[in-house]
Amino acid sequence: MTIHTILKMGDPRLLRVAQTVPASDYDSDALHLLISDLLDTMAAANGAGLAAPQSGVDLQVVIFGSRESNPRYPDRPLVPPTVLINPVITPLTADGDPGGDMQEELDWEGCLSVPGLRGMVPRWSRIRYTGFDQYGDPIDRTVQGFHARVVQHECDHLWGKLYPMRVRDFSQFGYTEVLFPEIA
Ligand code: NI
Repeated sequence: MTIHTILKMGDPRLLRVAQTVPASDYDSDALHLLISDLLDTMAAANGAGLAAPQSGVDLQVVIFGSRESNPRYPDRPLVPPTVLINPVITPLTADGDPGGDMQEELDWEGCLSVPGLRGMVPRWSRIRYTGFDQYGDPIDRTVQGFHARVVQHECDHLWGKLYPMRVRDFSQFGYTEVLFPEIA
């Protein structure tokens, strides 16, 4: 069990575009070790997700989801535990019509790299995401709501984006202990 230090906002390693994982590295000892460490680190921090760049690893690997309610997000629906590598996200319209308008929704987010703060962040309501698991098996899901939000937040770490960069209304950005004293 290895718990890594999570890099905090201001560290330039959080601003890189992460490298893709070569197909030859799927199901390798090094990849399984990385994912095991990320899972331990996320669990120790009560995270809803964690991206490899947050532990200083410059690879397109994210993990998210949980089997039980998370104390940092007590009212949120469960998201299946997922390892997602080399992801691609496509925003979808509400009815899947490719000619229609994509919808955004606003909700609160936090981040283990931005401790103690929460902000109101716009995300696509409905997305398709594809990629691979740690064995190289393809993942292809269409999701919405909180699941879609978690995927967009974690994958943003792979493009060097932290959620405060997406906040539009800074009157809805502040300390968790003030905004949500019941969970701080
Ligand atoms: Ni984050």
